[in-house]
Amino acid sequence: MTFWQQVQAAAGIPGFVWVIIAFVLSALVLNALRPAERMRIRASLILFALAFFGLLLTGSFAYRGTPTDRPVYLWFDWASLFCLWIALINVASVFVFEVFLSAIRLKPPRIMRDLLVALAYVVLGITLLSIPRVDISGIVATSAVLTAVIGLSFQDTLGNMMGGMALQLERTIGIGDWIRIDGQEGVVREIRWRHTSIETRNWDTMVVPNSILMKSQVTVLGRRAGAPRQHRQWVYFNVDFRYSPADVIDAVETGLRAEPIPNVAAEPLPNCVFMDFKESFGSYAVRYWLTDLAVDDPTNSIVRTRIYFALRRAGIPLSIPAQSIFMTEDDASRRERKDIEDTRQRVEALGRVELFNSLTEEERSSLTARLRYAPFTRGEAMTRQGAEAHWLYLMTRGEAEVRVSTEGNLNERVAALHAGDVFGEMGMMTGEPRSATVIAVTDVECYRLDKDAFHDILHQRPEIADDISMLLAKRRVELEAAREDLNEEAKRQRMRYHQNDLRRRIKNFFTL
Ligand code: CMP
Repeated sequence: MTFWQQVQAAAGIPGFVWVIIAFVLSALVLNALRPAERMRIRASLILFALAFFGLLLTGSFAYRGTPTDRPVYLWFDWASLFCLWIALINVASVFVFEVFLSAIRLKPPRIMRDLLVALAYVVLGITLLSIPRVDISGIVATSAVLTAVIGLSFQDTLGNMMGGMALQLERTIGIGDWIRIDGQEGVVREIRWRHTSIETRNWDTMVVPNSILMKSQVTVLGRRAGAPRQHRQWVYFNVDFRYSPADVIDAVETGLRAEPIPNVAAEPLPNCVFMDFKESFGSYAVRYWLTDLAVDDPTNSIVRTRIYFALRRAGIPLSIPAQSIFMTEDDASRRERKDIEDTRQRVEALGRVELFNSLTEEERSSLTARLRYAPFTRGEAMTRQGAEAHWLYLMTRGEAEVRVSTEGNLNERVAALHAGDVFGEMGMMTGEPRSATVIAVTDVECYRLDKDAFHDILHQRPEIADDISMLLAKRRVELEAAREDLNEEAKRQRMRYHQNDLRRRIKNFFTL
């Protein structure tokens, strides 16, 4: 026999060279396709290389005519074959579980794969030991002792393994579940034979032995039978007793429900509850359901910002500790200073608005007194398309955008608004429903004016309706011209039409 035939005989595989080529190629392909399995594939390649050199050696023994029934030779042959088949089994398992089964969208628990691979090792060991040229009587004799020793020394490990098996087979906890154990929270990333890896929000990984996981009380966060995964969050705040709890709850719930907040469930809706009477304030909590448990703090922060702005709009301050109340107790001059500053800001806001340029000083200052401060946080809708109009808004800070829903195009952005712009005038002055939704893009500060204030000023100066209708008509024509590419003559015609139409509608609405 040639040298290579001897090697092939030692391997016990006909066409051994093809097996080598197929093995190396598939290992390289799998290595590129499945980066997560690289360790396993590389280990298999190393084992395969060891086996190959072992078989070369045993082949060369036989080739040189060294007696092949010596125990050293036999064990060498056996070990090489064992390494060879372990390498083959490992690469085959990666192919079956990671390529084939995932291609047909089957994802058996990892432990199942480990069990099958372990079973294949055992079958392989027994098969190789039963090859007539290896004497297994010694091994059988020692195996009982070996089992006892292994059993004793691996007591903990076995406990962990049984735990791992139970966890995976019963599917008590699954990959991707958020759990709380010993006060720590995290997402389950991997359940192995001995341990489970849990990634916390602090970017750490907790490695919990499976036996501990089975013995401890574990809370699976946000899991409820038949319901989507969402976890209730609590956000606390305090408000002075001077303000009615009903008003506080109403303002906060309206602010939170008006516009969807990312990662806050729509069902159940966020709600606000009055929790307790404290020494100098009432304690409240907002409860909402978080849909992505990874972003609890950022979502709490958005919810807190919404609460803050909703309360500010309603003129309800967050409570301050009683001590500070005494330290900053309002004195007359402080209040006066505040009033002057407040009035200055309102006058400035009104001055920026072209619509009111024709008012006298006196009219303007009477209007100023009726402006109400209305801040919004980014993402909130300040007017909603189709809603009844109660206010005209004067923007003094921030950016907003105007969005219109039509049948074909949901929520198309039609214009941007900046500090100094006015919006809500169409609905307020004609009684029509809001023509668009205006959304705060950044935090926005506005002053708003109600219909009664307008009514009063129009009754004192009905000719203002003409100025206003001209301004509104101009705005409309500008929009239409941009949309329809109108020429100068068409613009003049539209201007005349809109001005008359708007004047008539404003007068009807305000019964002038
Ligand atoms: P109103 O219809 O009361 O409510 C929505 C407001 O969005 C509307 O008044 C205008 O103030 C504003 N608005 C609607 N369309 C535009 C637009 N094309 N450009 C600027 N502002 C607009």
